Amino acid sequence: MGLFEQPWPIRIDFKEPPHYSERAMDVAVIILAAGQGKRFQSATPKVLHPLAGRPLVAHAVQLAQALEPQRTVLVVGPGYRQHLAPALNGIGGQVAWAVQREPLGTAHAVQAASRALQGHRGLTVIIAGDVPLLRAVTIQQLVARVREQRPQTGGVLTVLQPDPTGYGRIVRGHHEVITRIVEERDASDDIKPIREVNTGIYCCDTQWLFRALRQIGRHNAQREFYLTDLAELAVREGEGLIAVTAADPEEFLGVNSRAELARVEGIFRRRLVSQWMQRGVSFIDPATTYLDVDIAIGADTVIGPSVTLAQHTRIGRRCRIEQGAVITACRIADDVVIKPYSVLDGAEIANGCQIGPFARLRPETRLAEGVRIGNFVETKKSWLKKGVKANHLTYLGDATIGAHTNIGCGTVTCNYDGKKKHPTIIGEHVFVGSDTQFVAPVRIGRGATTAAGSVITEDVPARALAIGRGRQINKRRK
Ligand code: UD1
Ligand code: MG
Repeated sequence: MGLFEQPWPIRIDFKEPPHYSERAMDVAVIILAAGQGKRFQSATPKVLHPLAGRPLVAHAVQLAQALEPQRTVLVVGPGYRQHLAPALNGIGGQVAWAVQREPLGTAHAVQAASRALQGHRGLTVIIAGDVPLLRAVTIQQLVARVREQRPQTGGVLTVLQPDPTGYGRIVRGHHEVITRIVEERDASDDIKPIREVNTGIYCCDTQWLFRALRQIGRHNAQREFYLTDLAELAVREGEGLIAVTAADPEEFLGVNSRAELARVEGIFRRRLVSQWMQRGVSFIDPATTYLDVDIAIGADTVIGPSVTLAQHTRIGRRCRIEQGAVITACRIADDVVIKPYSVLDGAEIANGCQIGPFARLRPETRLAEGVRIGNFVETKKSWLKKGVKANHLTYLGDATIGAHTNIGCGTVTCNYDGKKKHPTIIGEHVFVGSDTQFVAPVRIGRGATTAAGSVITEDVPARALAIGRGRQINKRRK
């Protein structure tokens, strides 16, 4: 399929959910995402804040899909669904929504998922919506160990954090059994130095989990129903929760404040950059490159410093994206050069085009092969065919421009009459003189020329020379 035959606007591939019978059979996943996130100090719920171009919780949904669960339940607050559903479109899989009316704690949130998991036999994995660096393999290790050792109760992932502040501390008793998990706000001075912390990731027998939840109260500093109380309940009923200690503390960094969001997003973006490096893309300064999670870049492309690639942008092979370019929702083919400080949004660009510096391509711009767009040129809803040049100080809106036409410096399509937009249609091999104004709607025939400084208000026939300007008068002075 050619670049221009592909659907527009860009559609996200919707992955068909795998059939139940092919999945890891007995695992369900609950994603907890109904908390308000008080430490965020925001009118928007924490899990709806974006990280690398996607709401925080969408990363958890993607992770859940990687486990191929039998069911995934997303526990959200009232009204979250309408904001979230569009962002989950591209991720695929099926999600059951459960609403926790009031954020009364993590145990209360799991309870909200009980209806969606009715009749489920097997294991339930619980993950929080605010730990976006978590990897599927790490969860799989927990699931495997629980299946092996404690299938009747469950287990929890723990990790040693260099700075455990803010996390639930893991308290171990005889034979290293976890006796309690103590939240920061409930921790006494002898508990606070413990560096082994609760990651908030659990895997439990589903029936046991919902039975245990009924016994959880809210006798703690925050007066919330804490899921961490599962630890004590598991001890009371037998051998306690099994603990799987993960190796990499970075994976469990939670996003509870804006400072943590910035830190975690930095790590996430570095991960993305190294993934693209492994696929043959060069980055001049990875530390200042901002990539969304859903972009794609071809091999041997070079990305300059301070470049942003966002919202499903696709870039082909051997391209050069130079310093400060901001590219959103664009499709760019091979061998394209985007020069510094160009801003591109919703444009389709074919092979071998050169754009910028300081160009602005707005939505529905289509550039065919070898088009050149120079400095201070703005395009909107315009189709520039093969080899068109618009090198300086120009506005092209609602225009179609034929192959090999040259647009002189300072050309403006006057496309808006205050009420409606009108088209400008220019044929092939036209020479547009500098400072031509096209008062749309207007058509220019193939091979025509407009004289510099013309205001073109009428159609121009093919090969004609159009002059639309006042005649120069030179007055002698005494
Ligand atoms: C939680 C754990 C803590 C652990 C840490 C790891 C509890 C009581 N504490 O603390 O031991 O070290 O995660 O990151 O479980 N949520 C709801 N409904 C609620 C409350 C929270 O859905 O009523 C969701 C939040 O949206 C979030 C997740 O549960 O995605 C965790 O809640 P959060 O408030 O971030 O808990 P932490 O204080 O981080
Ligand atoms: Mg948290």
